[in-house]
Amino acid sequence: MLKGRHLIDPEDFSLEELDSLFALADSIIKDEDSFRNLCNGKILATLFYEPSTRTRFSFEAAMLRLGGQVVGFSEPGSSSVMKGESIPDTIRTVGSYVDIIAMRHPKEGAPKYASYYSPVPIINAGDGGHQHPTQTLTDLLTIKEVKGNFSNLTIGLCGDLKFGRTVHSLIKAMSRYENIKFVLISPNELRIPKYIKTEILDGKAIDYAEVERLEEVIDSLDILYMTRVQKERFFNEADYIRLKDSYILDREKLKLAKKDLSILHPLPRVNEISYEVDEDPRACYFDQLKYGMYIRMALISKLLGVM
Ligand code: CP
Repeated sequence: MLKGRHLIDPEDFSLEELDSLFALADSIIKDEDSFRNLCNGKILATLFYEPSTRTRFSFEAAMLRLGGQVVGFSEPGSSSVMKGESIPDTIRTVGSYVDIIAMRHPKEGAPKYASYYSPVPIINAGDGGHQHPTQTLTDLLTIKEVKGNFSNLTIGLCGDLKFGRTVHSLIKAMSRYENIKFVLISPNELRIPKYIKTEILDGKAIDYAEVERLEEVIDSLDILYMTRVQKERFFNEADYIRLKDSYILDREKLKLAKKDLSILHPLPRVNEISYEVDEDPRACYFDQLKYGMYIRMALISKLLGVM
């Protein structure tokens, strides 16, 4: 039962609860018209303290497509946050007006903190370099649609594995399934945080390897999850400039890959996937962003208890 729950961490939901979300998303994809009035009279607030295109628009489009309405801000400068209002007071206020809140914040743990004060469900729409659970739901739905299941996969995660919160959430989520191997491809400075290794990979005895060169391992991958280097999380611009083009996936590198490789990317992309790759049938990232809206439609419906 997901009614009234918060979604803060990818592991907040059981595998059975995730299956029920994917099944609902699949039904919506197949017959969206049947779900048009599901959220009539309900209101979603999108509180985005950090920039976003996909997450905010897909949440808002999801609610509107379900017949609900949307309020919120896309940057906190237009709200009383600028006058110094705290997260608890903002959440108590907004929670008195709406039925559900999606919140993105640069500080790790901010949505969890908000959930302690919220009278309505809080959805973490990304907290600093920490977690991005609805991107993970998007990634999982994409994997289910393109691979048919979540087991027996070798998943390459490439790019900024230090600051890339989508990667942290995806490792957490996929490590719950059978016979998953991760290949972690990054420059030395952008390796996966130690806590992910000790708590999840070593903690659950998951098979993984860390390498620096994509060309060395691309032929072994079933899924290649590319990420951009996260400029906004660097303290030093010179470091960002040095590392930003560490990986550029192009046609030449793809010649080494499996014919049934699936290329995912949470987007936005900067330089890490050449535009020529968009034409390759293995490129799934534009389907992936559409699945993001459908899984958010399913999530909103379940948390509001209308499905
Ligand atoms: N994938 C993702 O979170 O994109 P946005 O930052 O545009 O929301």
